[in-house]
Amino acid sequence: MRTPLMYSTLAPWWPLISAPADYAEEAAAFAALLPPRDGTSPTILELGSGGGNLASHLKAHGTLTLVDLSAEMLAVSAQLNPELEHVQGDMRTVDLGRRFDVVLIHDAVMYNTTPADLRATLATAARHCRSGGTVIIAPDCTRETYEPDTTHGGEDGADGRSARYLSWSFDPDPTDTSFETVYTLVLRDVDGTMTVELDRHVEGFFQEAEWIEWLDAAGIDARCQLDAWDRPVFVGTRR
Ligand SMILES: C[S@@+](CC[C@H](N)C(=O)[O-])C[C@H]1O[C@@H](n2cnc3c(N)ncnc32)[C@H](O)[C@@H]1O
Repeated sequence: MRTPLMYSTLAPWWPLISAPADYAEEAAAFAALLPPRDGTSPTILELGSGGGNLASHLKAHGTLTLVDLSAEMLAVSAQLNPELEHVQGDMRTVDLGRRFDVVLIHDAVMYNTTPADLRATLATAARHCRSGGTVIIAPDCTRETYEPDTTHGGEDGADGRSARYLSWSFDPDPTDTSFETVYTLVLRDVDGTMTVELDRHVEGFFQEAEWIEWLDAAGIDARCQLDAWDRPVFVGTRR
């Protein structure tokens, strides 16, 4: 699939499309799932960390390493989180050669569009999690909870830029494991120049039972729970 514009040429607009401040509550919910501290800071690997919005809050709770496919998104994250380690890599194949107390995958897991993609990503999570460590994976939805929808959002930046978007999610082929979210973005630059972009994202959804089965096959004992926004969160322990 073509890399979404949002994660390539339009990456510098990411904080105006999705503001770091909006991730505070979600980060607090993930922090509550972290293993109890014994005075040390847990090491946390986030796969698909994007612009580092979630990490900007979670870094108070551990030592984070951030992996993303997109160099442009890593650059945005490095501005927000200059003290964190950033690594370019594909969540399906990356191997950092070390293990963490916690492996976290947030909304980026949605870009696994086939069972093979998702199973490769779960194997990456298992490969990087120490035995007894915690794996947290928070897709936007499962196959059962997916609903087509239309939303809008955007921010006015302190630097004079503004962004607004309309997003439209639909499932063009109910027989496969992917759906589409199309964004229309209206971007106003500092000098008032307006640009309109259309950005197509192909995302994957899988049944809860498939998630649990594939997590188990990867060596992770997991359960699915709902977060405060009724979204599924898979919380597991690496065997
Ligand atoms: C919605 S953004 C994540 C935003 C992030 N939760 C935050 O707090 O800023 C999705 C990210 O997934 C990344 N991504 C998509 N496929 C990936 C893959 N196979 N491996 C690693 N990252 C991937 C994209 O580059 C993008 O940065």
